[in-house]
Amino acid sequence: MSRFLESTVTDWKYVTAFRADKSTITITRQPVLPDTRSARHRMLAELFSDGKALQDVTVSVDCYAYDGTEASYRIHYKPTLATGMEANRHKLSEALLAALGTHESGQLWRVDWAPEQPIITLSLRKPLATMVMHALKIPAANLPVPQLDERGIARRQQMPWPGSDPSVPGQRLHVPYASCETDAGVVDAYWNISDDSSAPHMLVVGPTGGGKTVLLTTVITELTLRGVPVIGVDPKRIELHQFLCYPGVPAIVFEPLRAAEFIYALWREMHARTKYMQTQRLKARNMPLLVAVLDEFFILSAAWTQLAKSGTDEEKEVIKRCNPLGRIGELVALARSAGIRLAVGVQRPDAHLFGRDSGSVRDNFQTRAALARLSSDGAYMMWGETTVGRDIDAKIRGRATVSDPSGDPALAQVWFTPTIDDHPAARSDLSAEEAHAVDSLRPTRDTPVYCFSAELVQFIADEQHLITTMADDVREPVAVSASSVTSLVDHISDAIPAGALEEGMNIVLGLDDEPDRTGTVLTVETIRKIARDSDGTVTEEGLVRVEVSVESTGRRPEVLILEYSGLDTVFLAAVDLAAAV
Ligand SMILES: Nc1ncnc2c1ncn2[C@@H]1O[C@H](COP(=O)(O)OP(=O)(O)OP(=O)(O)O)[C@@H](O)[C@H]1O
Ligand SMILES: [Mg+2]
Repeated sequence: MSRFLESTVTDWKYVTAFRADKSTITITRQPVLPDTRSARHRMLAELFSDGKALQDVTVSVDCYAYDGTEASYRIHYKPTLATGMEANRHKLSEALLAALGTHESGQLWRVDWAPEQPIITLSLRKPLATMVMHALKIPAANLPVPQLDERGIARRQQMPWPGSDPSVPGQRLHVPYASCETDAGVVDAYWNISDDSSAPHMLVVGPTGGGKTVLLTTVITELTLRGVPVIGVDPKRIELHQFLCYPGVPAIVFEPLRAAEFIYALWREMHARTKYMQTQRLKARNMPLLVAVLDEFFILSAAWTQLAKSGTDEEKEVIKRCNPLGRIGELVALARSAGIRLAVGVQRPDAHLFGRDSGSVRDNFQTRAALARLSSDGAYMMWGETTVGRDIDAKIRGRATVSDPSGDPALAQVWFTPTIDDHPAARSDLSAEEAHAVDSLRPTRDTPVYCFSAELVQFIADEQHLITTMADDVREPVAVSASSVTSLVDHISDAIPAGALEEGMNIVLGLDDEPDRTGTVLTVETIRKIARDSDGTVTEEGLVRVEVSVESTGRRPEVLILEYSGLDTVFLAAVDLAAAV
C-alpha cells in the first residue's frame, strides 16, 4: 500500500512516498512551473470552470499583437445538444464579450463559433468608424456607362460590367452604401443590381430618425452617377424632395394617388419591356436599368388602403384600377429580367408589409439593411434569426445590420450623404465638407429613362408638369403666437387692445355669454405705462396699468385697477366706441 504526502514549498513540489512493505520513505522534488497565463487567459478559463455553460473547456492563446499582448484565443469545448443551439450560443457570446470588455488597444472583441468543430475563436476587431462621410471612392472615370443605342439597348461588347470585360471590375452595378464588417475585414456593402443578381431588390427598415432616408439618398446618388435613372416616391414630401430636378431623376412622386398610378405605369412598363425583349431577342443584360425608390412605404400603403375604403368614387376607382400592392408583388417577382429594380424604405419589417400574404413578396427583397436595433420579431423577419442585429449601439447614427457581399448579415456603418439639394435654402445649410461631398457626387450629365410603354412616358410627363404647378398653392407663413392675437384684433371690430385705450374713453360691454353685464359702462380713468426697457424708455408693448370705473345699471360706480401687457386684448365691446362716448 502506498501513501502520498504532498507539501509545496515556493516553486518546488515535494512528493513523499511511504512504502510500508519495504520500510522506506522516498522524498522527491519537482520544480513548480509558475502560472504564466495572463489575467485575461485565467479569467476565461475560470469562466467555464463550473462546467455549466460549456464542458471540458481548454483555453489557449491563438496569437499575440505586435506589442506582445494577447490578441486572440481559442476555446475548445465538448459539444452537447445545448451548445448547438443558436440562442445559447448568442447568450454565451454576449457573456464572453461582457467579460472581455475592451482590449488594451481600444479594439473590441468578436466571438466566432466554428461551424463544424467545437471551437470558439475570440479575436480583435477594429471598431467600425462611427461616421463615414459619403464621398465618391471610385472616381467617376472608373464608372463607365455603356454605350446604348437609341432604344437604350446595350450590346455585350459595349457593356463595361462583369462578364463583358474582365479588366473592368464590377463597380458599375454594385451600388455601395455602407462599410461593413466581415471575416475579411471592413469592406463595402453594396446592392447588386446586375441582371444575374440573386438580390435585385432592396429593403431598408429602421425606426424614425434611424437613417433610412440618408441610406436611400446614398443609394440614389450612387445610382445616378452610374447612369442608372431613378424615380422616387415620397409620401412624406420632405424626404426625397431634394432630388427634384436632380440629373438622372426624372420624377419624384408625392401624392399617394399618383404613386398608385406610378406603380401601375411601372407594371405596364415591365410587361412592355418583356414583350419587346421577346420580339427583339434581347436578354436581361441588354435592357436599360430603371430603379424605383419608395420611401416611407407604410405611409403609402396606409394611404392606399384609406383611399380604397373612404375616398371619393374617383379615388376608389384609381386604387382599384392600379391595384398598387398587388402590382408591387408582381413587380418584385418579375421585374429583374426587365431591367427594373425596387428599393423600399419602411419603419418596421411588418408581416403584412405588402398586404395580406405578403411574406413571399418580402422574400423578394433580398438586399437588406436594418438601421438601429431590431426587435426579435423584426430580426427574425429580416434575417431569419431572432438574435441578429439586436446588439447594435442605437446611439450611433447610421449603425446598421446589412447584407454583406455574400448575403449574410453584417454590422455596418451606413455612409452619410448630406442633403444634395441644389436649392439655395438647402445648400446654405451645408458645411464646407458636406458641400464638397455633394458636389463630387453630382452627375455631370442627365440620364434618360428609356420607356417601352406609353403609360410610363405619360406618367413622367404628367409628373413633370405637376412639379411646375406645385408652388402655385403654397403661401408664405403667418406667425401666430399667444401675443400675436393683437395683430388680429384690428380685424375684430369690437376688440380693444390695451395699447389702444385712452383716458376718458367709455366702453360699453355687451358680452353675449354674460347677459347680466349687458349695459355695463367702463370709463378709463388713468393709464400708466409702467414697463420700461433696460435703457429706461417705456416700451410700446410694456405693462399698462389702467384704472377704470365700472358703472352698471342701477349700481354705484366701482373702481378697478387692471394691468395689461400693451398687446393684450382688453375688452370685447358690443357697441361701437363712438356711440358709447
Ligand atoms: N449614416 C449616417 N451617418 C451619420 N448620421 C446619420 C446617418 N443616417 C442618418 N443620420 C442622422 O440622422 C438623421 C435622421 O436620418 P434620416 O432622416 O435618414 O432618418 P429616417 O429613418 O429617414 O427617419 P424618418 O422616419 O423620420 O424619415 C439625419 O438627419 C442625420 O443627422
Ligand atoms: Mg426618412
